[in-house]
Amino acid sequence: MADATNTSIPDPFAPATLGPLTLKNRFIKAATFEGVTPQGLVTQELIDYHLRPVRGGVAMTTLAYLAVAPEGRTDDGCIWLRPAAVPGLKKFVDTMHDEGALVAGQIGHAGPVANAKKNGVPSLGASKMLNPINGKITRAITPTQIDRVINDYANGARLMAEAGFDSIEIHLAHNYLLSSFLSPKFNKRKDEWNGSLENRARFAREVIAAVRDAAPASMAVTAKISLNDGVPGGFRPPESTEFARLLQDDGHLNALEMTGGSSLANPIYLFKGDAPREEFAKVLPFPMALGFKLFGKKFMPSYPFEEAYFRPMALDVRAALDMPLIFLGGINNLATVQQAMADGFDFVAMGRAVLREPDLIKRMQDGTQTEGNCIHCNKCMVSIYSGSRCVVDNPNPIVASAPIA
Ligand SMILES: Cc1cc2nc3c(=O)[nH]c(=O)nc-3n(C[C@H](O)[C@H](O)[C@H](O)COP(=O)(O)O)c2cc1C
Ligand code: SF4
Repeated sequence: MADATNTSIPDPFAPATLGPLTLKNRFIKAATFEGVTPQGLVTQELIDYHLRPVRGGVAMTTLAYLAVAPEGRTDDGCIWLRPAAVPGLKKFVDTMHDEGALVAGQIGHAGPVANAKKNGVPSLGASKMLNPINGKITRAITPTQIDRVINDYANGARLMAEAGFDSIEIHLAHNYLLSSFLSPKFNKRKDEWNGSLENRARFAREVIAAVRDAAPASMAVTAKISLNDGVPGGFRPPESTEFARLLQDDGHLNALEMTGGSSLANPIYLFKGDAPREEFAKVLPFPMALGFKLFGKKFMPSYPFEEAYFRPMALDVRAALDMPLIFLGGINNLATVQQAMADGFDFVAMGRAVLREPDLIKRMQDGTQTEGNCIHCNKCMVSIYSGSRCVVDNPNPIVASAPIA
């Protein structure tokens, strides 16, 4: 365990640099898709949602999820980076800045995870496949579309700069588009975008280079990578460590945040804890709901929750890399944060713990609380369809007001 007498271990409550930024402490609110963005635009409810952890002590909040193209939205309620979204995003960022926090935005393309039916546009993945959640066919993206998407990322980064974001987090995990290319299971292409790790990683690396090029030097650029998709035949160590090393060598990123799991094929691997199968079946349309009732256990197995559940794999990445790393996954206790600092991680990102208790960081700092009260029921996962929240404390849906345009 962490040695409190070792003064070389950073104090998690002291300021720290992330590329060009100085964060007031080492706590980041992880991306937790909020789902109160009708027409893909910011609302006051979205701002209120982020104000809570920001007032509760996080140095940087992460707005999720910002799609770079219409077919890259998880569904039609997801923010899509286009000029019409900028005024609302600017108000969002300004409000967080006024409270003394920095703002990251998670930029991405949902690829095969996108809901083609709700988006009204076909989904694109590394290869043609059936989406197990909405029953629609995902098309294999063409080389011309790949070029267009790389350009969409660059445009998205420029719009984020215009809105005043401090940091861009590129989503490379959970079998979204770039992650579907990395996965030997979901990438069945016969061209130069498949085969060796270099080939499967090229799309992600070209996107990162384009985003870094488009973003001003004053902005940080980070990426959220998968350590293990948790899917047989999928992306996992040691390839994930090798991929992290390629990204380090490219030199475009200020930090890597480490996650795992697959929104397509193994969502609870991402969270650990209970599988809210009943709640999930209720939000699926017929006949998917019926299929889910019959086969839900296979699609959504549960995993026993363990504090800091990605630590063993993350330590391998720490040992292999010199660049800053953001530790994520199952952080509830101050002791875990201190251990992460002792392990050499530079920041911690927290999702559910601050969803349940937005002021947990402040309470950890003033010594009134050392442990969060999240019970890892994962019912908040399903609340993305009715306004993300800890449903244990807030069972009622959040109604979004008119978008800020
Ligand atoms: C309601 C909810 C929505 C989430 N949405 C996203 C998302 O949009 N993008 C993402 O990368 N991760 C998302 N996550 C995953 C979190 O960022 C984080 O990886 C996960 O919750 C594990 O961290 P934790 O143990 O601190 O909660 C979401 C998590 C929750 C609970
Ligand atoms: S619903 Fe609340 S208690 Fe349950 S996992 Fe989510 S944040 Fe934790």
